[in-house]
Amino acid sequence: MLLDVQNLRIHFKVPQGALQAVDDLSFQVKEGRCLGIVGESGCGKSATAQCILRLIPSNVLSVLSGKILWQGKDILTLNDTDLRRVRGSQIAMIFQEPMTSLNPVISVGEQVAEAIRVHFPEEKNLEGRVKEIFSRVGLGEDSKRLKQYPHELSGGMRQRVLIAIALACRPKLLIADEPTTALDASLQSQVLDLIQSLQRELGMSVILISHDFGVVSKLADEILVLYAGKPAERGPTKELLKRPLHPYTKALLESAPRLSETHHRKPLRMIEGTLPDLVQPPCECRFASRCPVVMPECHQKEPEFQEVEPGRWVSCFAVKTP
Ligand SMILES: Nc1ncnc2c1ncn2[C@@H]1O[C@H](COP(=O)(O)OP(=O)(O)OP(=O)(O)O)[C@@H](O)[C@H]1O
Ligand SMILES: [Mg+2]
Repeated sequence: MLLDVQNLRIHFKVPQGALQAVDDLSFQVKEGRCLGIVGESGCGKSATAQCILRLIPSNVLSVLSGKILWQGKDILTLNDTDLRRVRGSQIAMIFQEPMTSLNPVISVGEQVAEAIRVHFPEEKNLEGRVKEIFSRVGLGEDSKRLKQYPHELSGGMRQRVLIAIALACRPKLLIADEPTTALDASLQSQVLDLIQSLQRELGMSVILISHDFGVVSKLADEILVLYAGKPAERGPTKELLKRPLHPYTKALLESAPRLSETHHRKPLRMIEGTLPDLVQPPCECRFASRCPVVMPECHQKEPEFQEVEPGRWVSCFAVKTP
């Protein structure tokens, strides 16, 4: 298994105590596959992604436990040298806002060159390699483009530059945290197509994070639905979309624009209610207060995340194990 996350807990220090952003989360990513992580704002998607690269400063955390096994080694216990190796050359990440992640005063070609230099100091034909990556991400090989600064490019092009930087290290795993949210509809699908073709050509694995099923369904082999820091449901993309099992997944799918209509990018119709207080989560199913099929036992304890059918995992008392 390329990445095996086991019982991950991420609790942040906040003035009121500890905020349980992620609680007892387990998932795997296989070589060459794409896992989509979906859920509403605040459900712990970015915290999970950042934690895989240990990007959350330890002074803001009150609890960080579980295991993040990367090719069998726990990222949470790596020393600095090994961690740098993983971060730089094995796992790469692209973020939501392309402008803030680029240096405004350095040309985009130079930024990609720098990324290559860091990972492959021996590379002789640096310019050739930059051009190759630029053309691979659809930015062309024109030298003029290499000399441009981030503000001279459109949002979609800037996102391509970020992907180019991420690819400079030839990662085995690309984590894309809402990579298309800041883009308009046509650019959104171009960037997703690009990630998909790179995944196929380079045999990369991908974790694609979004609040939008339309976005992840294009690429993901498997989808993990998070709710309030806990896994609600996980399963193969087609089956999960066709026959969602968890009431939260159903509600999210009903509130989302139809997949065929995602290019209209209608805002999500909200599911009624709000996330529970993550500082003092109630001792019940975290979705109970919003759930249309809530039962008395849902208020008494938390459901376990269980495999209810081969490959399909759900945490819900209403979904019975065979
Ligand atoms: N540094 C921090 N200190 C305290 N709380 C934090 C910190 N970072 C995140 N949180 C909290 O952790 C929870 C999960 O946040 P996270 O950013 O992972 O959500 P998300 O699913 O990525 O949401 P979005 O879709 O809005 O990006 C939220 O309640 C958030 O307020
Ligand atoms: Mg986020």
